[in-house]
Amino acid sequence: MSYLAKNYNRKKISFERGKGSYLYSVSGNKYLDFIQGIAVNSLGHAHPKLNKTINQQSKKLWHVSNAFIIPEGEILAKKLVKNTFADFVLFQNSGTEATEAAIKVARRYFFSIGKTKKNRIICIKNSFHGRTLAAIHASGSKKMTEGFGPKIGGFDHFKFGDHKRLKKLITKNTAAIMVETIMGEGGIKTIPDWCLKGLRKLCDKKKILLILDEVQCGIGRTGDFFAFERSKVKPDIVPIAKGIGGGFPIGAVLMNKKVASGMTAGSHGSTFGGNPLAMKVGSTVIDIIAKKNFLKNVKKNSQYFHKKLNQLKKDFPEIIKEIRGRGFLIGLQLYKDQTDFIKKLMDNKLLTIKAAENVIRILPPLNVKKSEIDHALKIIKKVCQEYS
Ligand SMILES: Cc1ncc(COP(=O)(O)O)c(C=O)c1O
Repeated sequence: MSYLAKNYNRKKISFERGKGSYLYSVSGNKYLDFIQGIAVNSLGHAHPKLNKTINQQSKKLWHVSNAFIIPEGEILAKKLVKNTFADFVLFQNSGTEATEAAIKVARRYFFSIGKTKKNRIICIKNSFHGRTLAAIHASGSKKMTEGFGPKIGGFDHFKFGDHKRLKKLITKNTAAIMVETIMGEGGIKTIPDWCLKGLRKLCDKKKILLILDEVQCGIGRTGDFFAFERSKVKPDIVPIAKGIGGGFPIGAVLMNKKVASGMTAGSHGSTFGGNPLAMKVGSTVIDIIAKKNFLKNVKKNSQYFHKKLNQLKKDFPEIIKEIRGRGFLIGLQLYKDQTDFIKKLMDNKLLTIKAAENVIRILPPLNVKKSEIDHALKIIKKVCQEYS
């Protein structure tokens, strides 16, 4: 008998420890973990530097109220600002809180300049921005909003790629466009660089804000610190989470000076957000990712993985439809439902996870070894052979 609520459809397996790219089950099996908590453990399991940070900081100070200056948070915020487009950072605890806060920052900015009716946010239909009430309505997904009425207003939706509809949706009451740079849950669908540029231009022309949700695709996952960087576009607001904590719950909203002006004292808060323990862990993650050659290696190794997966697609054209994504945010799209394929991968001790559109999400840690990629490729090939 489990006393946990039944809101998850859990696989009947538990793990007792992890090391790097591997998980060890309670029953003694070793799995190559290419889920990593869904792109959370960016440096794999039990990274020695993260363990050391937690050990040291836990002896000094875990939590203190945001009523006081938290030097550890000041340091992490500075690192994020020095490495990115942002001028200011607001710390939260999760992705959905970060996207929710991003929406608040956008609305509050227009409120602060007297445009109180400019509060609508345009999003992609069936995107994913988290599970709070505002975030599920931002996602525009029937499945996620069903039973959670009344509807939270203020969101307008267009289908991925439907530029005509997007332009039509912009009115004098629109505050922002919010999209995932790469749609994770939605099937690893990448907004092309030219399109990101177009979005920025459109936002500038209409004097509205651009929010790029990098909760899943940010913090080095694509080989750039942010997935949008390659396009040279500068967003106004970017919610992040997942990878920044390397397994410790941290969320944040990065923003430029203009929009930050609306976030005056008392406008937003979080009891846990930005506590010293979380901030120390986040700082260690950033220090490792910012090291010379770290992201270069992510690019090199992920390009190798993509090349080999594309070869598998050629070898099994009746099974694999498309290889999607960038860096270590990889989608293997099948022609058929992927559930059984994922199960077979798991039977062969490789863990992967579903996304929409028959996509298998492959999310190794950013510091995965080439030999581990080869091991995964061997297993994927074996399962393809079983199918053909
Ligand atoms: C793009 C994106 N935004 C927001 C979220 C919500 O994050 P969390 O589950 O930490 O609340 C997710 C989670 O998968 C996500 O992928």
